[in-house]
Amino acid sequence: MELPGKDLLDMESLSRDHISRILDTAETLREISERPIKKVPILRGKTIVLFFHEPSTRTKTSFDVAAKRLSADTHSLSQSTSSLTKGETLEDTAKTLEAMHPDAIVIRHSCSGAPHQIARLVKSSVINAGDGLHAHPTQALLDLLTVRRRKGRIEGINISIVGDIAHSRVARSDIAAFSKMGATVTICGPRTMIPAGITQLGCSVIHNADKAVEGADVVMMLRIQKERLKSALMASERDYAVHFGLNSRRMRLAADDAIIMHPGPLNRGVEIAPDVADGPNSVILEQVENGVAVRMAVLYMLLGGKPHAPEN
Ligand code: CP
Repeated sequence: MELPGKDLLDMESLSRDHISRILDTAETLREISERPIKKVPILRGKTIVLFFHEPSTRTKTSFDVAAKRLSADTHSLSQSTSSLTKGETLEDTAKTLEAMHPDAIVIRHSCSGAPHQIARLVKSSVINAGDGLHAHPTQALLDLLTVRRRKGRIEGINISIVGDIAHSRVARSDIAAFSKMGATVTICGPRTMIPAGITQLGCSVIHNADKAVEGADVVMMLRIQKERLKSALMASERDYAVHFGLNSRRMRLAADDAIIMHPGPLNRGVEIAPDVADGPNSVILEQVENGVAVRMAVLYMLLGGKPHAPEN
């Protein structure tokens, strides 16, 4: 099954079948990362531009690693090293990149909708690596893969997403993805951090963190996005940690075999206590590992890679 269209911009555009196929493909490709020689030639000759207009450790590196494991060539462009600093528009930057005939442009941008704008301008595949407050589809896919691997299913799972929902593109993509796949999604945070209308994405809202965590199979903690807070939305970090942070007492309210997730980067001691982040229920580093597999799958499926055939 092909993906719908040339781009991956959000989770809403993917059907349940598309999502299952991406996860199955990631499961198949995951094994490449465990080989002594971590490279197969299925995207040989393909060119991928990584255009990151905002900082990133996990997403940028894992797209780069994923592309190289499939033998594609990658080229990185950041806000600070691009001609955007000289006043070039996003459209002109996109057309300039397109003139070099990349097969895919992976873009992270601070403006919601920037990847969609670029996707309309270029023939290359555009993959949204996080846009403003809007969407982060490959994060949602790697979160689905992590839950499916750990729990054996997604349908029927109770997942609670706790934190700064208002500023979180991960929350929006995860709510859309998990509800589409049949999980029950509860979100929790201070009233100032829950956007109006969020339940339309397929979740219910609770403002008491103990109640949100109680009985959950999956607890996903979100980062307080200090760089996006224009005004004080909480009394203090200490106050936030007491009322909404995940500590070992609160974690004991979850299901016995509950897993703890966080898209990273962590504010240790704010939304998550260090002993919980590093404890036995934490799958935070598995999320990172699964991120490489999911991004390999997305690149493979969008760029029409052929299965490895003998050299001659
Ligand atoms: N989860 C995530 O998007 O992390 P980075 O900002 O490090 O890419």
